[in-house]
Parts: sequence; structure tokens; C-alpha cells
Amino acid sequence: MPKASYSVVLLPGDGVGQEVAAQACRVLRLVSERTGLGFELEQIPCGGQYYLAHGRDWPEGSAERCRDADVILLGAVGWPSPKGQGPVMMEGGKMAGWSPVLGNRSRLDLYANIRPVKLFEGVRTRICGVHRQIWEPKQVDMVFIRENTEDLYIGNGGLLERAGRVELATDTRIITRVASERVIRLAFELARTRHGAPRDGKRRVTCIVKNNVMRGCQFFGEIFNEIGASYPDIEKDLAIVDAFSQWLITQPDFYDVLVTTNMFGDIVTDLASVLQGGMGMAVGCNVGDHHGMFEPIHGSAPKHAGKDRVNPMAMILATGEALGWLGRKHADSKLTAAAAAVETAVRKVLRQGAPLTYDLVGEEHAAPLSVVATAILEELGPLLAL
Ligand code: IPM
Ligand code: MN
Repeated sequence: MPKASYSVVLLPGDGVGQEVAAQACRVLRLVSERTGLGFELEQIPCGGQYYLAHGRDWPEGSAERCRDADVILLGAVGWPSPKGQGPVMMEGGKMAGWSPVLGNRSRLDLYANIRPVKLFEGVRTRICGVHRQIWEPKQVDMVFIRENTEDLYIGNGGLLERAGRVELATDTRIITRVASERVIRLAFELARTRHGAPRDGKRRVTCIVKNNVMRGCQFFGEIFNEIGASYPDIEKDLAIVDAFSQWLITQPDFYDVLVTTNMFGDIVTDLASVLQGGMGMAVGCNVGDHHGMFEPIHGSAPKHAGKDRVNPMAMILATGEALGWLGRKHADSKLTAAAAAVETAVRKVLRQGAPLTYDLVGEEHAAPLSVVATAILEELGPLLAL
């Protein structure tokens, strides 16, 4: 049932996360003004910078506020340690920023991390030469489903110290039937709603594993075959992750829906982002049966922070995905229409070729983050006058 007002928790986080999150607010405000949709927006500071000031990575009560929200938007977390060794860490070996990202994923059972990889018109892949585009937009259109709650991310590991010196470190990899089944089933269901791979129009689910070595991957692959048996209309493709990494770049048009375990999914989706114009275009949708958290997959990019410079499109597209998910969940056609409008607005600015940020057009032609966001909002306004 549609609601009069939807509660949104915004977690801006660190660095450029804060700058792009501000654009998500502008999008929601405009959507609300033009459509009458209500959003109660609550911002919660979090991340490494917050930890340095407060000794914790988000305020007390934040987990409950995320749990009670209709939807969560996340900027990016992670900040360089003033001690100069990687990111700010908390006691116990967790990165400051763990609570909003990995904490929410596990606490709210956001078991699927859905990462669409689509090359929009007007965008070049990050592996093109100056004059030659290697892949055309119509050749890159796939969706990854990354298992989002277990594997090496389970936090089951430890250190062995002797005489004050660490001698050994372990990280246990856990793959369970229940977590594997639900993402694999989701991948097949998603494939049914799509139009197949760009190359041949065949509906295809690719399962990425390292089953020539690892038990967990053999298990994941077996579950893939079991579940796949109930989807005779969909082609099954089992790929070993190392070989897959080169095929992803050399034959992206073969891929439609892909499913994999958490750690491989983390790595291959960053790689896949080069096919869609880079991390500035890449969105991650963390979804479970009850909760959803939407984010750009780029990090907090400390070296670009505060410069009004990075690409706001991933965050704006993530906001669109959040509206679409909410719209489907609440059968709210206004939200679904607003979600489509957000993507259309981004596509229009891309097709015009300007203004765009440095990652898409190079330093010489680069426009600031806020100017690009304003251009998207100007396109969005009329599209929302439904
Ligand atoms: C991502 C990020 C996170 C992850 C980090 C910030 C913990 O890289 O969303 O892909 O590893 O999952
Ligand atoms: Mn990642």
C-alpha cells in the first residue's frame, strides 16, 4: 500500500560520500515538490571522520533508526588514519564505518547486493583509446548479484600473538545453503524479467566460483545446478573467477545476470565498473526481504574530497533505484514513475555530453559535481510533472 510519507535515513559518511549525499537530498526534495510524495529525511553522520571526533562510527540509536526507516541511502565510508597506516580502524580490527555498511548488511539481512552494469549512451568505457570505443552501449547490459552476508566477510577470524608480536592471522570463509539459495534463486528470477544477453538475446545466469579449488565454491556451484534445474528456460553458465575476469572485459556482451559469493563479488564488480564508465557510474542495491540500502559503489575518495569534483551520477542513480524498490514494495506507482524519471534525467545529461565530471570527459572539459547535479535536476523537474 502506498504511504503518505516514507522515512529515509541518509548516511553521508566520509569524504566525497558527503558531497554526493547532498545531491541525493536535492533529488528527493525535487521529487517531493513535484509529485506530492512525502519523504521524512533523517541524516545520520557516520564513518571514519565521525569516529575520530566521537570514538564511535555512528551515534547511539542509529541501528534502530536504520531498522525503522522505509529505505536507507548511503554515501561512502572510510577515512585515512592520522597515524598514516590505511583507514581509521576501531578496536577489534573493524574499519571505522563498519556499522553503517557491513553492520547494516548483516543486521538488516540485506542478503543480495544487486549491481547493474550498463553502459549508457554518451559514456565511454574506461578501457577505450583516445579515438576508439571498444564496447558500444548496447553491448554492455548485465546485473551482478553478490551474496552480501557471509563468505570471508563474516568476521570469523583471529590473530595469534606471541610475545607481543602477531604470528598468524585467519579469516574463515563460510558458505551456507540458505544464503546461497536465496541469491541464486533471485538471479534466475531476475533473468526472467530481462531480455537476455546483448550478444544473442539468450537469458543466461552465470555463476562465478573457484570450484576447482575451494569447497565453499563447489557447494555454491552445486546449489546453482540444483536451483537452475527449475529454470529450463534460462541458460546456465559456470565460470571460474580468474578466467571470468578476462572474459568480463573481452566479451561483456555474453553476460546477462551473474551471481557470486561476497568476496569475489566485491572484486569483480569494481572491475565491471570499467565497462560502464568507471566507479562514478556504478550503483549497489543492498536488499533483503524487508529492508533496502542503496549506495554508489565508489569509496570516500579522500584525495578528491571537498573539491566539488567527483561524479554525482552513481549516488543519483542509487537514489533512483531506492525509489524504484520502494515503489515496488508499496505498490506506489508515483514512486516507480519517479525512479524511471531519475534514470532518464541522467541519460539526458549524458547524451548531451555536458556538463560532465572529469572521470567521463577528462580534466579539460570537466564540470564540477554540483553543476552536473544541477543539470540532472533541471532535466528531472519536467519529467516529474506527471
Ligand atoms: C563495497 C565496499 C565495501 C565492501 C567496504 C567499504 C567494506 O568495498 O561495498 O563494495 O567491501 O563490501
Ligand atoms: Mn567494494
